Amino acid sequence: MTRAAGPKGSFIWGSLPAFKADPIGFLADAAQDHGDVVRLRFGPITAHLINHPAYVEQILSRNAANYDKATRSAKRIAATTGDSLLSADQDKWQRHRRLIQPAFQPRSFDGIGPVLDGLITPMLARWLRDTEIDIVDEMMQLVIAAAVRILFSSDIDPQRINAPLEILLADTWRRIEAPLDASLISSRLHRPAFKQAVAEIDDIVLDLIKSRRASRDRPDDVLSRLLAAHEGEGAQQLSDAELRDAAVTLLLAGHETTANALSWAFIHATSGHGANPAHLFAEAIRLYPSIWIIERRVIRDDEVGGYHIPRGSSVLISPYLLHRHPDFWPDPETFDPTRFAQGTPRPREAYLPFGLGQHRCVGLHLAAKIAHHAIERVLAQVRLQPLPGQAPKPAPGMTLRHNGPFRMRCQRR
Ligand code: HEM
Repeated sequence: MTRAAGPKGSFIWGSLPAFKADPIGFLADAAQDHGDVVRLRFGPITAHLINHPAYVEQILSRNAANYDKATRSAKRIAATTGDSLLSADQDKWQRHRRLIQPAFQPRSFDGIGPVLDGLITPMLARWLRDTEIDIVDEMMQLVIAAAVRILFSSDIDPQRINAPLEILLADTWRRIEAPLDASLISSRLHRPAFKQAVAEIDDIVLDLIKSRRASRDRPDDVLSRLLAAHEGEGAQQLSDAELRDAAVTLLLAGHETTANALSWAFIHATSGHGANPAHLFAEAIRLYPSIWIIERRVIRDDEVGGYHIPRGSSVLISPYLLHRHPDFWPDPETFDPTRFAQGTPRPREAYLPFGLGQHRCVGLHLAAKIAHHAIERVLAQVRLQPLPGQAPKPAPGMTLRHNGPFRMRCQRR
């Protein structure tokens, strides 16, 4: 079997320094120079970048049993989330998925309109009063406030959760990019700010679980559904520690991803004005998929696109690159929501904002509902215009955020 070609990189760390300096630019160049299967080396780790819908389907769906999540990134994420849905352990993942998925059916969130309106109405009044906003910060605040209510029916100050969550995400990404991570030797070697952020989140989440258990009140939220799964499934019950892990996982996986998608939609809303909110959202997460890279570990030797993929190595799939692949997307760099007016693009696997296969996003219906509702409400009332002198610039980390603030002028429509 043929060995795929790829960039050489430096003697010891291979392509790690180039990846760290500009992750997306580096991967885009690698695909441009070497094709849809590229062999990469990051220090001792061999990885293949896979950038073709058919090969992605093979890895994430058809032959998914040969690719697990015992990856560098999953190990580092587990420091925050424990063994839950983002975990490497297949048995624990399956147990959590079985108990959590029923709480995330499309119908589960039919009633969230009034919850969202309760947040959006005062937000829009403030925007029109202040006339200038940072859309990135606004969307973070809106989504964390919505998440805390939808998941826990809590009116805790969202900033108390948002601040530690940002530290957890930034520190996790720093450890993924670093060649060595001392905290894998002992959790005592985590940075103090990380330990403090975990302690703050734990305090809040464990307190919510404890007081909900102690109360007879079962509001219609995700925590109640998880508790019911816990209470109703005999040997399958979720312990307090598992509930904590599940809740932190949902906050971590759901918050920044959804907030980014909304920021990107509004940053481009001027060019997409008049578009259907669902199409605007779909196009925002095509050009800026919040999860811009997906990693798996290869269990047994495989062949992808005629190339040898050795066991123990990693595969990297980048929705960002796939969504801009010129063979599958006409005019790929242009923001054009109308491309979704004809339904899902073909091939289906060229569009993976929520992943594919057994690990497909559990929160996709919730994310879409929040986004469609927010886009519709905001654009019905407010005209958003970027302040001059700003060019949209993605900053890839754990999620694909905008790089810093993006200021917009607001006018009543
Ligand atoms: C626009 C917003 C969102 C995007 C773009 C997004 C994207 C994704 C993607 C690509 C994956 C697959 C990762 C992989 O295969 O390794 C994923 C998984 C996941 N997402 Fe989302 N997500 C979003 C919102 C949410 C929300 C709102 C929640 C929950 C409240 C959530 C919870 C999860 C969880 C728990 C997983 C892991 C599923 C598993 O491995 O079984 N996500 N998401």
